[in-house]
Amino acid sequence: MRVLGIETSCDETGVAVYDSECGLMGHVVYSQIATHAKYGGVVPELASRDHVRKLVPIIEETLSEAGVEKSSLDGIAYTSGPGLVGALLVGASVGRSLAWALNIPAVGVHHLEAHLLAPMLETEVPDFPFLALLVSGGHTMLIQVAGVGRYRVLGESLDDAAGEAFDKTAKLLGLPYPGGPELEKLAQQGDPARFRFPRPMTDRPGLDFSFSGLKTFTLNTVKKHEGDPTARADIARAFQDAVVDTLVIKCRRALTQSGIKRLVIAGGVGANAYLREQMRELAERQGARVFYPRPSLCTDNGAMIAYAGYCRLAAGAAEPLGFGVTARWPL
Ligand code: KG4
Ligand code: ZN
Repeated sequence: MRVLGIETSCDETGVAVYDSECGLMGHVVYSQIATHAKYGGVVPELASRDHVRKLVPIIEETLSEAGVEKSSLDGIAYTSGPGLVGALLVGASVGRSLAWALNIPAVGVHHLEAHLLAPMLETEVPDFPFLALLVSGGHTMLIQVAGVGRYRVLGESLDDAAGEAFDKTAKLLGLPYPGGPELEKLAQQGDPARFRFPRPMTDRPGLDFSFSGLKTFTLNTVKKHEGDPTARADIARAFQDAVVDTLVIKCRRALTQSGIKRLVIAGGVGANAYLREQMRELAERQGARVFYPRPSLCTDNGAMIAYAGYCRLAAGAAEPLGFGVTARWPL
């Protein structure tokens, strides 16, 4: 089965072709960073308009990169939520219309499910059941995955998502949007011994997270060290260490409590090299294995949508001709 995947939930226009025999055949992501950077964050209306401009040319580019004719597609998957409604509607209407024109089924995909299943696009895939840490701009969750569509949320953030905390802290440090990768770069120059930030909610049982206090802690530290040229990098380092350490502590707890020995890291923050290294060390200590999608499949992309759509279509799912999108949609 050959599926075209379309992702437009936020500020990336992602398109890919997944084939159940050949794997990932084409994969193109256009990032709108340049459009939103001057506003310091995503402007929803501009995001929708950019998807309108870019989506059809990117579909053409992906098909040509994959060497695939439209007529050979067996189905189309598009992100139907959660995300920005206007942005989602662009992908959904183009995807649904193209499927209608080609007389093939279309399926709306849950964005978080697609992130969770992204490691399945790699050569070494985890067996079910596995634990997944989903760390993106909108969500921080620990999930027990028994199979496709069989998810149990073990814990989640009570306030900011990890990626959101990275982005807001980066802004406090005067870094450009998008903050996560910029903060990671600055942290590489920081002294890990200078500041120690709290590890929120690690002193109580449970698997929930909270990152908004860490942001306030950072703000106070920034104010206290104004005028000190080396403080910014040291603060970035302390912040990153605190977030990563908190995530490691909760993952260790989840591995121990569940007895499961496979851990998947998914979502944009999963592209962070320090997080990847620390999770690998955790897995070694716990006699477990950690699975990551490559960094370009951690952040938003069409490949994970194509794969999740393939799973759904193979199980017989298909949307009626009418379609809808959902801004807030629990897993
Ligand atoms: O999964 P994603 O692309 O979009 C959502 O579904 O939210 O995640 C985007 C988030 C942003 O908050 C971004 O700053 C963060 O992932 N991110 C990173 C890194 N790369 C992306 N955070 C820390 N370090 C990175 N290298
Ligand atoms: Zn995402």
